[in-house]
Amino acid sequence: MTTPRKIAAGNWKMNGLGAQLTQAQALAHSHPAPSVDVLLCPPATLLSRLGETLAGSSIALGGQDCHSAEKGAHTGDISAPMLADAGASHVILGHSERRSDHGESSQTVAAKALAAWDAGLVTVICVGETLEERDQGITLDVIGTQLRESLPAGATAANTIVAYEPVWAIGTGRTPTLAQITDVHSFLRSALPDAMIPLLYGGSVNPSNAHDIFALDNVDGGLVGGASLKADDFSAIITALETA
Ligand code: PGA
Repeated sequence: MTTPRKIAAGNWKMNGLGAQLTQAQALAHSHPAPSVDVLLCPPATLLSRLGETLAGSSIALGGQDCHSAEKGAHTGDISAPMLADAGASHVILGHSERRSDHGESSQTVAAKALAAWDAGLVTVICVGETLEERDQGITLDVIGTQLRESLPAGATAANTIVAYEPVWAIGTGRTPTLAQITDVHSFLRSALPDAMIPLLYGGSVNPSNAHDIFALDNVDGGLVGGASLKADDFSAIITALETA
């Protein structure tokens, strides 16, 4: 049976000056031929330079957000064609920090996804519940609604990756139990329009917990924040995925 692609994705968020490039270089060095897809999403300011640093490696590059318009009067924003032009093949959309810091709705995320596909980018679409929603027992309702509204018609394994990121697990060192991750991922798998769309888990993934999480059914990899900034940690996480 064919299974979805396995992906280790690093989200540097608003971290990294030029010196951070050495970490990417070390990562490429430690994984010259990874058996899983590896993706790094640096701040937009580092995209081109990271592309130069990683030239010849198999690590792919992604943006962390894009605008829904192709170009125009949107000061401070970045369009999908600009990301592609800078060397990105992927873009993260609907991360909970975008949803909370910038009030992004799922409808906005869907509009951005269409723009990203038009530019030839693969979208990494994030969904996840808050702790309050989990405590209320409405996790699957919230995630189902986010998925339905954020994913435009036409989402396939060729243009889309979905990441489950419980808001309360992001950057907190807390992770859901393995049973909680399994519940959400099996729900997502059945809700996806294409069963081959890779499903990533994100939220406090680190070298110690990665293997157990990646070994779960319907977990095809991880979207990693803090631990993707250090080559040693992210390298261990990639190895965990390769061996899960
Ligand atoms: P974290 O972030 O690994 O630092 O918790 C994950 C993410 O927000 O993508």
